[in-house]
Amino acid sequence: MRIAVCVSGGGTNLQAIIDAIEAGTVTNTEIAVVIANNPGAYALERAKNHGIEAVCVSPKSFESRDAFNRALLETVDSYHVDLIVLAGFLVVIPEEMIRRYRNRIINIHPSLIPSFCGTGFYGLKVHEGALARGVKVTGATCHFVDEGTDTGPIILQKAVEVLENDTPEVLQRRVMEQAEWIIMPKAIDLIANGKVSVSDGKVHIEN
Ligand code: GAR
Repeated sequence: MRIAVCVSGGGTNLQAIIDAIEAGTVTNTEIAVVIANNPGAYALERAKNHGIEAVCVSPKSFESRDAFNRALLETVDSYHVDLIVLAGFLVVIPEEMIRRYRNRIINIHPSLIPSFCGTGFYGLKVHEGALARGVKVTGATCHFVDEGTDTGPIILQKAVEVLENDTPEVLQRRVMEQAEWIIMPKAIDLIANGKVSVSDGKVHIEN
């Protein structure tokens, strides 16, 4: 299976995917390209360090959102990928892309959906929300992308404890280490090995 990994920032989830492929815990998978929406994304360096093709498609280089959306879709199409992985990609995915890649786009979100998700909940804001509400358990969710924000079929979730004195940064790191970096590669491996199907908006995983 060929995948495109879309990133905006540090790329620790990308790194977890690269490491899992190199370790053989994710099989049948090749990263065809890493796509960033900003040229400063450290994730681009991570890709290059591993000999993976890395490109930047920035909204700033285009006159309109439509033109950016078209360029993003053309870039993805040109690599003939089977799966698009959003690994901290802070861009609203064009509807045309969602239609064309139905149940072939996955996202990692740093909470247990349907908590702390939807418009405005991304990155540290998710963990700020969890701490403000005083939840004792949070986690991460890997899901397919549909037209809504964080509303698509859920593939895998993993819970993580919230501890006394957590800051958003400390909690973010624990959620990454104990959940995101585990379930994102696992979901890719399951999909690459034909174990995942979607019906009635729900994911079924074969043993
Ligand atoms: C991750 O925590 C990911 O779950 C989150 O952005 C971070 C990216 O980190 N994504 C969202 O909030 C999407 N709504 P990374 O660049 O180190 O992988």
